[in-house]
Amino acid sequence: MENTVAAPNATDADSRWSPWGQPPAPMLDPRPFAEAHWQGIEAIPATASVTQVLGIPQGLRGVVIDDVSLPADLQGFQAGDLIMEVGGQSTPDLLSFVRASEAVRDQKQVDVLVYRSGQSLALTLAALFERLGTANGETPTMIPPGSRRPHRYLGPCTSCHRIGTTGSLATDPGDTASKSTVAIRYSTAAPHRDRGPCSACHQILQ
Ligand code: HEC
Ligand code: HEC
Repeated sequence: MENTVAAPNATDADSRWSPWGQPPAPMLDPRPFAEAHWQGIEAIPATASVTQVLGIPQGLRGVVIDDVSLPADLQGFQAGDLIMEVGGQSTPDLLSFVRASEAVRDQKQVDVLVYRSGQSLALTLAALFERLGTANGETPTMIPPGSRRPHRYLGPCTSCHRIGTTGSLATDPGDTASKSTVAIRYSTAAPHRDRGPCSACHQILQ
Protein backbone atom coordinates (compact mmCIF):
# COMPACT_ATOMS: atom_id res chain seq x y z
CA MET A 1 0.00 0.00 0.00
CA GLU A 2 1.37 3.36 -0.91
CA ASN A 3 2.06 5.71 1.91
CA THR A 4 0.52 9.05 0.97
CA VAL A 5 0.38 10.63 4.40
CA ALA A 6 3.18 13.02 5.24
CA ALA A 7 5.23 12.09 8.27
CA PRO A 8 4.80 14.76 10.94
CA ASN A 9 8.43 15.75 10.90
CA ALA A 10 7.78 17.15 7.43
CA THR A 11 4.97 19.41 8.65
CA ASP A 12 5.35 19.58 12.40
CA ALA A 13 4.48 23.10 13.46
CA ASP A 14 5.91 22.31 16.88
CA SER A 15 9.31 21.56 15.45
CA ARG A 16 12.58 23.27 16.31
CA TRP A 17 14.63 20.34 15.09
CA SER A 18 12.14 17.59 14.18
CA PRO A 19 11.75 16.30 17.74
CA TRP A 20 9.32 13.63 16.53
CA GLY A 21 12.03 11.89 14.53
CA GLN A 22 11.36 9.51 11.67
CA PRO A 23 8.47 7.06 11.86
CA PRO A 24 9.86 3.64 12.89
CA ALA A 25 8.21 1.78 10.00
CA PRO A 26 7.47 4.34 7.25
CA MET A 27 6.53 1.77 4.60
CA LEU A 28 3.90 0.34 6.92
CA ASP A 29 2.67 3.37 8.77
CA PRO A 30 3.51 7.10 8.82
CA ARG A 31 3.23 7.54 12.57
CA PRO A 32 6.27 8.45 14.68
CA PHE A 33 6.79 7.34 18.24
CA ALA A 34 5.24 9.61 20.86
CA GLU A 35 6.52 7.71 23.87
CA ALA A 36 9.14 5.10 24.75
CA HIS A 37 9.48 2.91 27.82
CA TRP A 38 12.70 1.46 29.12
CA GLN A 39 13.62 0.18 32.58
CA GLY A 40 11.27 2.58 34.33
CA ILE A 41 11.98 5.50 32.02
CA GLU A 42 9.08 6.93 30.07
CA ALA A 43 10.46 9.30 27.46
CA ILE A 44 8.71 11.75 25.13
CA PRO A 45 9.94 13.93 22.25
CA ALA A 46 11.62 17.17 23.29
CA THR A 47 9.16 19.36 21.40
CA ALA A 48 9.55 23.14 21.55
CA SER A 49 6.68 23.47 24.01
CA VAL A 50 8.14 20.84 26.35
CA THR A 51 11.68 22.24 26.31
CA GLN A 52 10.35 25.76 26.84
CA VAL A 53 8.40 24.74 29.94
CA LEU A 54 11.42 22.86 31.30
CA GLY A 55 13.91 25.62 30.48
CA ILE A 56 16.06 23.34 28.33
CA PRO A 57 18.42 25.44 26.17
CA GLN A 58 17.73 25.54 22.42
CA GLY A 59 20.90 23.86 21.24
CA LEU A 60 20.45 20.64 23.21
CA ARG A 61 18.95 17.58 21.61
CA GLY A 62 17.54 14.61 23.41
CA VAL A 63 14.36 12.96 24.68
CA VAL A 64 12.61 14.11 27.84
CA ILE A 65 11.74 11.83 30.74
CA ASP A 66 8.11 12.54 31.57
CA ASP A 67 7.65 9.73 34.10
CA VAL A 68 10.11 7.64 36.01
CA SER A 69 9.46 4.46 37.99
CA LEU A 70 11.22 1.23 39.04
CA PRO A 71 14.16 0.73 38.51
CA ALA A 72 15.25 4.08 36.96
CA ASP A 73 13.82 6.20 39.80
CA LEU A 74 16.00 4.36 42.31
CA GLN A 75 19.07 5.16 40.24
CA GLY A 76 18.76 8.93 40.21
CA PHE A 77 16.75 9.51 37.05
CA GLN A 78 14.12 12.24 37.35
CA ALA A 79 11.14 13.48 35.38
CA GLY A 80 12.29 16.47 33.32
CA ASP A 81 15.76 15.03 32.59
CA LEU A 82 16.79 15.37 28.95
CA ILE A 83 18.48 12.13 27.83
CA MET A 84 21.14 13.13 25.34
CA GLU A 85 23.16 9.92 25.03
CA VAL A 86 22.76 6.23 25.81
CA GLY A 87 25.98 4.22 25.79
CA GLY A 88 27.72 7.04 23.89
CA GLN A 89 25.08 7.15 21.12
CA SER A 90 23.19 10.41 20.78
CA THR A 91 19.41 10.26 21.22
CA PRO A 92 17.90 13.35 19.55
CA ASP A 93 14.52 11.66 19.12
CA LEU A 94 12.62 8.58 20.28
CA LEU A 95 13.61 6.41 17.35
CA SER A 96 17.31 7.00 18.03
CA PHE A 97 16.64 6.40 21.73
CA VAL A 98 15.06 3.03 20.90
CA ARG A 99 17.97 2.19 18.56
CA ALA A 100 20.56 3.18 21.20
CA SER A 101 18.82 0.90 23.70
CA GLU A 102 18.81 -1.89 21.09
CA ALA A 103 22.61 -1.60 20.82
CA VAL A 104 23.04 -2.33 24.55
CA ARG A 105 20.07 -4.63 25.09
CA ASP A 106 22.19 -7.56 26.28
CA GLN A 107 24.15 -5.49 28.78
CA LYS A 108 23.31 -5.38 32.45
CA GLN A 109 23.97 -1.63 32.64
CA VAL A 110 24.81 1.41 30.52
CA ASP A 111 26.02 5.00 30.92
CA VAL A 112 23.35 7.60 30.22
CA LEU A 113 24.14 11.28 29.71
CA VAL A 114 21.38 13.62 30.83
CA TYR A 115 20.92 17.36 31.10
CA ARG A 116 19.32 18.63 34.29
CA SER A 117 19.07 22.14 35.74
CA GLY A 118 21.92 23.69 33.82
CA GLN A 119 24.36 20.81 33.83
CA SER A 120 25.15 17.47 32.23
CA LEU A 121 25.07 14.44 34.47
CA ALA A 122 26.55 11.02 33.77
CA LEU A 123 24.11 8.47 35.22
CA THR A 124 24.14 4.69 35.08
CA LEU A 125 21.06 2.71 34.21
CA ALA A 126 21.17 -0.86 35.51
CA ALA A 127 18.59 -3.43 34.45
CA LEU A 128 16.04 -4.71 36.93
CA PHE A 129 16.70 -8.28 35.77
CA GLU A 130 19.57 -9.78 33.75
CA ARG A 131 19.72 -7.41 30.79
CA LEU A 132 18.49 -4.00 29.69
CA GLY A 133 16.42 -5.16 26.72
CA THR A 134 15.17 -2.80 24.03
CA ALA A 135 13.01 0.25 24.77
CA ASN A 136 9.46 -0.02 23.46
CA GLY A 137 8.22 2.86 21.35
CA GLU A 138 4.55 3.77 21.14
CA THR A 139 2.83 5.92 18.56
CA PRO A 140 0.10 8.37 19.70
CA THR A 141 -3.16 6.69 20.70
CA MET A 142 -5.88 5.70 18.30
CA ILE A 143 -8.68 8.29 18.34
CA PRO A 144 -12.36 7.75 17.54
CA PRO A 145 -13.72 9.26 14.30
CA GLY A 146 -14.82 12.86 14.84
CA SER A 147 -12.51 13.45 17.82
CA ARG A 148 -11.56 17.01 18.53
CA ARG A 149 -7.94 17.64 19.25
CA PRO A 150 -7.13 18.58 22.85
CA HIS A 151 -3.79 20.00 21.73
CA ARG A 152 -2.92 22.73 19.28
CA TYR A 153 -2.61 22.00 15.58
CA LEU A 154 0.35 19.72 14.86
CA GLY A 155 -0.44 18.66 11.32
CA PRO A 156 -2.87 16.17 9.71
CA CYS A 157 -4.38 13.93 12.41
CA THR A 158 -3.49 10.72 10.59
CA SER A 159 0.21 11.64 10.56
CA CYS A 160 0.13 10.71 14.24
CA HIS A 161 -3.13 8.97 15.14
CA ARG A 162 -4.92 5.98 13.71
CA ILE A 163 -8.65 6.59 13.57
CA GLY A 164 -10.84 3.92 15.15
CA THR A 165 -12.40 2.64 18.34
CA THR A 166 -10.40 -0.52 18.97
CA GLY A 167 -7.21 1.10 20.22
CA SER A 168 -8.00 2.15 23.77
CA LEU A 169 -10.34 1.22 26.57
CA ALA A 170 -13.20 3.69 26.88
CA THR A 171 -12.62 3.64 30.62
CA ASP A 172 -9.14 4.34 31.87
CA PRO A 173 -8.03 2.24 34.88
CA GLY A 174 -7.80 5.49 36.87
CA ASP A 175 -11.50 6.12 36.21
CA THR A 176 -12.48 2.85 37.86
CA ALA A 177 -11.11 3.89 41.26
CA SER A 178 -14.09 4.33 43.56
CA LYS A 179 -15.51 7.81 43.71
CA SER A 180 -18.25 7.02 46.20
CA THR A 181 -17.44 7.04 49.90
CA VAL A 182 -18.61 5.08 52.92
CA ALA A 183 -19.83 6.61 56.17
CA ILE A 184 -17.05 6.69 58.78
CA ARG A 185 -16.85 7.19 62.54
CA TYR A 186 -15.46 10.41 63.95
CA SER A 187 -12.26 8.74 65.23
CA THR A 188 -11.45 6.75 62.09
CA ALA A 189 -7.97 7.24 60.59
CA ALA A 190 -7.83 7.92 56.85
CA PRO A 191 -6.23 5.10 54.83
CA HIS A 192 -5.52 7.56 52.04
CA ARG A 193 -3.45 10.74 51.90
CA ASP A 194 -4.87 14.00 53.23
CA ARG A 195 -7.78 14.99 51.03
CA GLY A 196 -9.17 17.76 53.19
CA PRO A 197 -11.91 17.81 55.87
CA CYS A 198 -13.36 14.30 56.22
CA SER A 199 -16.92 15.59 56.20
CA ALA A 200 -16.45 17.05 52.72
CA CYS A 201 -16.64 13.52 51.34
CA HIS A 202 -17.77 11.16 54.10
CA GLN A 203 -20.86 11.09 56.21
CA ILE A 204 -19.61 11.09 59.83
CA LEU A 205 -21.40 8.62 62.12
CA GLN A 206 -21.90 9.79 65.70
C1 HEC B 1 2.57 15.39 15.50
C2 HEC B 1 1.72 14.37 16.01
C3 HEC B 1 0.24 14.65 16.22
C4 HEC B 1 -0.67 15.15 15.31
C5 HEC B 1 -0.43 15.56 13.89
C6 HEC B 1 -1.96 15.14 15.98
N1 HEC B 1 -1.83 14.66 17.24
FE1 HEC B 1 -3.31 14.36 18.58
N2 HEC B 1 -1.97 13.75 19.97
C7 HEC B 1 -0.61 13.63 19.75
C8 HEC B 1 0.03 13.23 20.98
C9 HEC B 1 1.52 12.97 21.19
C10 HEC B 1 -0.99 13.11 21.93
C11 HEC B 1 -0.82 12.78 23.39
C12 HEC B 1 -0.98 11.59 23.98
C13 HEC B 1 -1.10 10.27 23.31
O1 HEC B 1 -0.17 9.70 22.79
O2 HEC B 1 -2.19 9.76 23.49
C14 HEC B 1 -2.23 13.43 21.26
C15 HEC B 1 -3.48 13.37 21.84
C16 HEC B 1 -4.67 13.50 21.16
C17 HEC B 1 -5.97 13.19 21.70
C18 HEC B 1 -6.24 12.65 23.10
C19 HEC B 1 -6.13 11.16 23.01
C20 HEC B 1 -6.36 10.46 24.34
O3 HEC B 1 -6.94 9.39 24.32
O4 HEC B 1 -5.96 11.00 25.36
C21 HEC B 1 -6.89 13.46 20.74
C22 HEC B 1 -8.40 13.27 20.84
C23 HEC B 1 -6.15 13.95 19.59
N3 HEC B 1 -4.81 13.96 19.88
C24 HEC B 1 -6.75 14.36 18.42
C25 HEC B 1 -6.04 14.84 17.32
C26 HEC B 1 -6.68 15.36 16.12
C27 HEC B 1 -8.19 15.45 15.89
C28 HEC B 1 -5.68 15.70 15.26
C29 HEC B 1 -5.79 16.32 13.88
C30 HEC B 1 -6.49 17.59 13.83
C31 HEC B 1 -4.41 15.39 15.94
N4 HEC B 1 -4.69 14.90 17.17
C32 HEC B 1 -3.14 15.57 15.38
C33 HEC B 1 0.06 13.86 18.57
C34 HEC B 1 -0.51 14.36 17.43
C1 HEC C 1 -12.03 14.54 48.79
C2 HEC C 1 -12.78 13.43 49.34
C3 HEC C 1 -12.30 12.76 50.60
C4 HEC C 1 -11.93 13.33 51.79
C5 HEC C 1 -11.81 14.80 52.11
C6 HEC C 1 -11.65 12.23 52.69
N1 HEC C 1 -11.88 11.05 52.07
FE1 HEC C 1 -11.76 9.22 52.89
N2 HEC C 1 -12.23 8.37 51.10
C7 HEC C 1 -12.53 9.05 49.98
C8 HEC C 1 -12.77 8.10 48.90
C9 HEC C 1 -13.12 8.44 47.45
C10 HEC C 1 -12.60 6.83 49.45
C11 HEC C 1 -12.73 5.49 48.70
C12 HEC C 1 -11.40 4.85 48.45
C13 HEC C 1 -10.41 5.73 47.80
O1 HEC C 1 -10.68 6.27 46.75
O2 HEC C 1 -9.31 5.91 48.39
C14 HEC C 1 -12.26 7.03 50.85
C15 HEC C 1 -12.03 6.02 51.74
C16 HEC C 1 -11.88 6.19 53.10
C17 HEC C 1 -11.87 5.14 54.06
C18 HEC C 1 -12.00 3.65 53.75
C19 HEC C 1 -13.46 3.34 53.84
C20 HEC C 1 -13.75 1.88 53.50
O3 HEC C 1 -14.09 1.15 54.41
O4 HEC C 1 -13.65 1.56 52.32
C21 HEC C 1 -11.71 5.71 55.30
C22 HEC C 1 -11.67 4.98 56.62
C23 HEC C 1 -11.61 7.13 55.08
N3 HEC C 1 -11.72 7.40 53.73
C24 HEC C 1 -11.42 8.06 56.07
C25 HEC C 1 -11.26 9.41 55.88
C26 HEC C 1 -10.94 10.37 56.93
C27 HEC C 1 -10.73 10.01 58.40
C28 HEC C 1 -10.88 11.59 56.36
C29 HEC C 1 -10.52 12.92 57.02
C30 HEC C 1 -9.30 12.95 57.76
C31 HEC C 1 -11.16 11.40 54.91
N4 HEC C 1 -11.38 10.06 54.69
C32 HEC C 1 -11.24 12.43 54.01
C33 HEC C 1 -12.62 10.41 49.82
C34 HEC C 1 -12.28 11.33 50.79
